Amino acid sequence: MARTRRPMIAGNWKMNGLRADALALAKGVADGVKQAGWRDREVLVCPPATLVMAVADAVKGSGVLVGGEDCHAEASGAHTGDISAEMLRDAGAGHVIVGHSERRTDHGETDAVVRAKAEAAWRAGLLPIVCIGETLAEREAGKTLGVLEAQLRGSVPSGATAAKLVVAYEPVWAIGTGKTPTTAEVAAAHAHIRKVLGGLVSDAAAVRLLYGGSVKGSNAAELLAAGDVDGALVGGASLKADEFLAIAKAA
Ligand code: 13P
Repeated sequence: MARTRRPMIAGNWKMNGLRADALALAKGVADGVKQAGWRDREVLVCPPATLVMAVADAVKGSGVLVGGEDCHAEASGAHTGDISAEMLRDAGAGHVIVGHSERRTDHGETDAVVRAKAEAAWRAGLLPIVCIGETLAEREAGKTLGVLEAQLRGSVPSGATAAKLVVAYEPVWAIGTGKTPTTAEVAAAHAHIRKVLGGLVSDAAAVRLLYGGSVKGSNAAELLAAGDVDGALVGGASLKADEFLAIAKAA
């Protein structure tokens, strides 16, 4: 079954990138991916909404996939400043990250909101990457697996299948800190996630589970080799083409 899970290396650019730098970055990634000619892994970049269209154009024909960083649950309407899944699709995206911990914290997004956004992604024909992860306090209190289970149950819409869902495990305390869980801790979290998905998704064994949090070229091979890890969701290190490509190579 593991062979059916094609590794995905996804870059989350967050609120970074003006056109000149971003297009150079997109082109650098596209050139590297084209040159490598990988058929056994997927490389996805998720730029800020302002750049989705330009990045989608810049990577055309390279095999690099493009996604949004967030979407609203509604298709359109009076939601000033928001972007719908349909708009992302129209701009050239095929994927969208939902429920990133920065959205959950900065914008008070609950599991129910994240679930509605994942459903919106389906409605628009996008593949949602649903993010979950415990805080440091939760980990230290021994609550990690329970937190992940509750977030999954609340955030994954019913009707999910491996073709319609990617899950990213991102411990909040590992994001942007240079700290990472041990491979045993990552494997334990991912095994639990897959077990919980067993009750939510008909083909849970085929769902791709990404690890995110301080992934870089130098630790990617180790983290990606942990049990039940099918790729990475990369923040800071996705802003440099060489570093991001090194992670993709390690997959
Ligand atoms: P860093 O790779 O910068 O730790 O960010 C991880 C992340 O939040 C990806 O979504």
